[in-house]
Amino acid sequence: MDVIDETAQVLASLRGVWDEVEVDELDHALQAGRHAVLDGADDELILASVLHDVGHSPLVAVDPSVHHEDAAQEWLDRRFGERVGWLAGSHVRAKQYLAATDPDYVAALSPTSIRSLAYQGGALVRSSRAGHPWWSDALRLRRYDDAAKVPGAQALSVDEVLEFARRVVSR
Ligand SMILES: [Fe+2]
Repeated sequence: MDVIDETAQVLASLRGVWDEVEVDELDHALQAGRHAVLDGADDELILASVLHDVGHSPLVAVDPSVHHEDAAQEWLDRRFGERVGWLAGSHVRAKQYLAATDPDYVAALSPTSIRSLAYQGGALVRSSRAGHPWWSDALRLRRYDDAAKVPGAQALSVDEVLEFARRVVSR
């Protein structure tokens, strides 16, 4: 199957998947993408922001022993290249790092995100990915992720996302 059709299918599969309380995973994805666009992110960072939780899709999460961020990284790496996969795959580590380094960060997290932080290993100053040239973009993605949990908030359309996906694939 064509990567763009596959991406459309995976996005559709996020409708009605609830990881957060306030928005389902499709609304969460499309809102995260809008935050990335508003922040002037490049096409790859926008795409990674939209698809960072693709590991929660029933089409991607085929092995329950694999963490959702790792499943996302592998899925995206194969289709959109290493950077898109790496940025999406860093979103849990970015949360751990921000929780350790930004005093206001944890207070602003959603209750679900605070709960998951505990079983993800808690706040961590040292990340194996910190210092990587893409790390600052991974932290940006995490901010879009955290802001993308507002019922009814403006969001990208699926067609807009697929246009970003086409641009990344055709580079
Ligand atoms: Fe997320």
